[in-house]
Amino acid sequence: MASLSTLQQRISDAFATAIFVREPAALYEPIAYSLELGGKRLRPLLVLLSCDLFGGDIDHAIDPAMGVEIFHNFTLLHDDIMDNALLRRGKKTVFTKWNQNTAILSGDTMFVMAYEYVSRTDPSLLPEVLQLFNETARQVCEGQQFDMDFERRELVTIPDYLMMIRLKTAVLIACSLKLGAILAKTDPANATLIYDFGIEMGLAFQLQDDLLDVFGDPAKFGKAIGGDITTNKKTFLYLKAFELARGETRTRLTEYFSGDGFGGQLKIDGITGIYRELNIREITRREIENHLGRAMTILESLGYEPAKTMELTRLMHDMVGRER
Ligand code: IPE
Ligand code: IPE
Ligand code: MG
Ligand code: MG
Ligand code: MG
Repeated sequence: MASLSTLQQRISDAFATAIFVREPAALYEPIAYSLELGGKRLRPLLVLLSCDLFGGDIDHAIDPAMGVEIFHNFTLLHDDIMDNALLRRGKKTVFTKWNQNTAILSGDTMFVMAYEYVSRTDPSLLPEVLQLFNETARQVCEGQQFDMDFERRELVTIPDYLMMIRLKTAVLIACSLKLGAILAKTDPANATLIYDFGIEMGLAFQLQDDLLDVFGDPAKFGKAIGGDITTNKKTFLYLKAFELARGETRTRLTEYFSGDGFGGQLKIDGITGIYRELNIREITRREIENHLGRAMTILESLGYEPAKTMELTRLMHDMVGRER
């Protein structure tokens, strides 16, 4: 089994040697800016880990892995416009450094590039690879729309929230793992199990993202703290708080979340205070642990000895306990 650091190096080398800038520079510079900034590169790492786990040749998985990462970065360019987010990975978001039109068009180009990279695979596997990728890409868009719908919808339940984050975040993580399995030509039962494992990991991953959005260290997180509060996102934190709040606290919570872009830092501090009162941080950690537990159960059902899945397990725990 290849180590995490070896696989990370493979991905980082692949991105370092690829040339993203060409003419017109105004279209391609934001693309290079996004892809060279890096980020955690979780999704391509999952493609390689899964390919390796199922005995595939990693050399053949590098381009599709890059494709998944390019797709992820494309969604971020558009997501930052939708969330009006000024900071990502400790730097200006593309639409603030350039402008919205640039972020839209460079994002579109990255969507196309993602397909180019993902398609660089054994032609006999292409129908299955594209079917998976198409379905995933559409689901991410569906999740992003639900995420925006929920900002304005009054009644959102925790099952609604889980459905939404499954679409916007978990399916791409699951897709990355399944892609690795397909490239390794493992049997469909394994591909399905690793996909289901990815869904649970992805739910935990987004819950942690929501947690960091409120309680993260701004120096490490690289995104503005309180962004979800400012934009009235119906996160697990908010929904749990709403469920637990009584009397005056509940009124304050509802008032804060009914305003359109009002409140600024005062609103962030007010809501964070309510979350603290209601122990929301610990409750969210427990929810994350639940999903990790389910993920481990699925992984164990593959029937491999723990040494074989150790790196994948380690990555999952790193990602879900992350600070950035
Ligand atoms: C950000 O993804 C969007 C979410 C699904 C939470 P990452 O946290 O993987 O972002 P980078 O690529 O590491 O910056
Ligand atoms: C990310 O959700 C989902 C996608 C980008 C598809 P968020 O909006 O929470 O991601 P961040 O926090 O901006 O990275
Ligand atoms: Mg966002
Ligand atoms: Mg968003
Ligand atoms: Mg977020």
